[in-house]
Amino acid sequence: MRYCWLDSGHHLGAVAASAYIHNRDIQLIFDFDKLALNADLGFENKEFITACAISGEEEAKPIRRLRLKVPFVCGTDYFEANQFIEAGYQTTALQPSRQQQLVHLQFDFDKEKFLQTVLYRRSVRRFQKQSISQETYLHILQHLEQPIPTENFEKVEIYSVVHRVEGMLPGLYQGMHLIKAGNFSEKTGYLCINQAMSHDKPLRVYARDGTVTLFFVSDYINYQNAMQIAGFLGQRVYLISNYLGIHCSGIGAFYDDETQEFLETNQDVIYTMTIGIYIRNLREMARKKSYSNEDDSHPMQLTSADIILRQQLEYSISKYFYETCDRTIQNLLSNCRWYVTTHASVMILVIECPDQVTNWRILQKIVPMAGLLGQIVSNAKIRVCPPEGQGIPFEMRVDELSVYRDWA
Ligand SMILES: Cc1cc2nc3c(=O)[nH]c(=O)nc-3n(C[C@H](O)[C@H](O)[C@H](O)COP(=O)(O)O)c2cc1C
Repeated sequence: MRYCWLDSGHHLGAVAASAYIHNRDIQLIFDFDKLALNADLGFENKEFITACAISGEEEAKPIRRLRLKVPFVCGTDYFEANQFIEAGYQTTALQPSRQQQLVHLQFDFDKEKFLQTVLYRRSVRRFQKQSISQETYLHILQHLEQPIPTENFEKVEIYSVVHRVEGMLPGLYQGMHLIKAGNFSEKTGYLCINQAMSHDKPLRVYARDGTVTLFFVSDYINYQNAMQIAGFLGQRVYLISNYLGIHCSGIGAFYDDETQEFLETNQDVIYTMTIGIYIRNLREMARKKSYSNEDDSHPMQLTSADIILRQQLEYSISKYFYETCDRTIQNLLSNCRWYVTTHASVMILVIECPDQVTNWRILQKIVPMAGLLGQIVSNAKIRVCPPEGQGIPFEMRVDELSVYRDWA
């Protein structure tokens, strides 16, 4: 259940990030008749409304009930009822939260960079034993203090266990206030159930190896809403960390009572996050540490960070390729679904044609397109796919242009 609410909060955080990019204010609403709306929308016991986000100007409008019942359409292949989740939802759906005055966000991110951060945000599970600057740490905390745009509020406080921040003693903090000094990385690793963030056993990289572990606590009235606010803040931590060039991962699994005891608080611990600098290349790190192990000869698993970098590269190449194409090719591409992807270190420009005519037109332009792509990446190919069931894809490598000289 914890994960359901936290995930919902993360979704709201993503909606708020999108609103920010589009210069819109947003308001989150948690206190409304969720059960009646579930019934009206025909969700049965299979989906639950958790919150509402509004953007735009409010207007007076007559409201009436739907004349017909909305039929239920299953959003998944199968459904497993869960009594615990259903009861937890029902119990917490209608409890009012604490109230506060609505205040909107005031971020001042570079919008283009922030957009890229949103597009490529990922979780990272392997952290280097490397410090982050105090400025980065404070930046993250400051952004967490920004208002949460809702009137239905549950206060969430944040404790940080600093493992490696330049100029700060390791220990348990609230903001910059040191509660107790000490190296607690073993302890926080244990509290987060010693989740191995990497399966590479010789390196033993655990959750505790982040540079800071954040614990979110609350003395909520409404558990459902407090958890969503924690998830909303969690999404903020993800985006701000990635924006500042560091990484993080949410951790929903921890020993509640022992964590509470460690933090010396009576409030409930509702979410944990670990932030730090990712390990890009495990094999390299293993070599540096002089590990010689048979695992080393296995093909390397891509980390989330590798995936982010690869996606960014693919995105930049497709953007640059599109910009260098002439108007005719750009128009043709706009009629297709197309993207750049990587397979076994070969970049592939995939063009999926909606109909045979477009397929034929694209094939007529494949030589100039290969010429342009070849100037950007030498080890690339173009794959032109006809509509599904109407033939097989045609592939051309950009370094075999001379074979197609006659087509040009
Ligand atoms: C609410 C929440 C709880 C999470 N808890 C854990 C966890 O306990 N252990 C873990 O390894 N990852 C955890 N994660 C990270 C997820 O595994 C990760 O978000 C997911 O694999 C999707 O990857 P992405 O964030 O890169 O899109 C959590 C993420 C969220 C949002």
